[in-house]
Amino acid sequence: MKEMILSNVDREMKIALEKYEEPKDIKRVLSGMRPTGKIHLGNYFGALKTWIELSKRAESFFFIADWHAITTSYHNTSELAENTVQMMADWLAAGLDPERSVLFVQSWVKEHAELHLLLSMIVPVRWLERNPTYKEMMENLKDRELATYGFLGYPVLQTADIVIYKADTVPVGIDQIPHLELSREITRRFNRFFGEIFPEPRPYLSEAPKLPGLDGRKMSKSYGNCIYLSDSEEEVNKKVMSMVTDPARVRKTDPGHPEVCSVFSYHKIFSPSERVKEIEEACRKGEIGCVQCKRELAKNLNSFLSPIREKREELLTDRNTLIDIFREGSRKAREVASQTMEEVRRAMNFLRE
Ligand code: TRP
Ligand code: SF4
Repeated sequence: MKEMILSNVDREMKIALEKYEEPKDIKRVLSGMRPTGKIHLGNYFGALKTWIELSKRAESFFFIADWHAITTSYHNTSELAENTVQMMADWLAAGLDPERSVLFVQSWVKEHAELHLLLSMIVPVRWLERNPTYKEMMENLKDRELATYGFLGYPVLQTADIVIYKADTVPVGIDQIPHLELSREITRRFNRFFGEIFPEPRPYLSEAPKLPGLDGRKMSKSYGNCIYLSDSEEEVNKKVMSMVTDPARVRKTDPGHPEVCSVFSYHKIFSPSERVKEIEEACRKGEIGCVQCKRELAKNLNSFLSPIREKREELLTDRNTLIDIFREGSRKAREVASQTMEEVRRAMNFLRE
């Protein structure tokens, strides 16, 4: 079953990758993340790492999508501010650099809301209703009313987020492709009515290494199978010990199959490559026990996480300074966004104030 799901994702990924081959002339990158909790290794390898790489090649804007977060959690916003601060710490600790990228908070740049409103005038509701992500979420989250105006308009707000900076490249996960497709359609429609104001944004799909959750499924907060950047050394040790391995191995001498073992996919990322080869062989020959193998991984994983964890804690001891970095970023973002909005108002023939 697991293999089947993986290969479906692989196939989808391949089609998407072929359609959107890596853009050569990246000028401006933009992406966002909803502050729904602390960042885990899946988020790091799936998104942050790519963002950091792209920030070295092009101008970049990254923001905390707090308005998007409440499209689904509008009934309980009590943790919104704290989650936002935690995300700030995660981003900086993981290596996003405010000297290189404009880092900001969506709700601090009100221009996004104005553009969202203007775009909402031209987006046919049926485009939004046929959005597969929308349909899927409606089916999956039965515990709350999701047929809200705001949630239906999620991709419209997301489009405003992107085009207000005239970003050409949007690093996202494969699950966001339908949203990006919609953004491209909305952009074309706007430009057709009001002139070539916005470039059509292209998704940028990174081939993230496969990092399953502790139970072998996709790492996801809702499955409770994550390793967080903020996890303590002991937590990491405990979690690694609980990871699923090759079910065929009962005794240490049973020959193993590293290709089906989650612990091994972690080794491939966190252990030196010569050692990975040795582990692979020893596992196949039944010469290494899973407990020993896991201890070794926990050690290497902790060497990777320790500096991030320490930086994170340090940042959180002075929250004002941390938040100031995002205030400054939001100011820079506002400069660009307000210029675009002037252009948009003119193109749409509003009487100037
Ligand atoms: N929808 C994105 C997600 O859930 C977050 C997001 C909001 C975003 N606005 C964006 C991503 C604009 C890229 C560009 O991951
Ligand atoms: Fe997985 Fe390591 Fe056990 Fe092999 S020895 S099954 S790679 S944990």
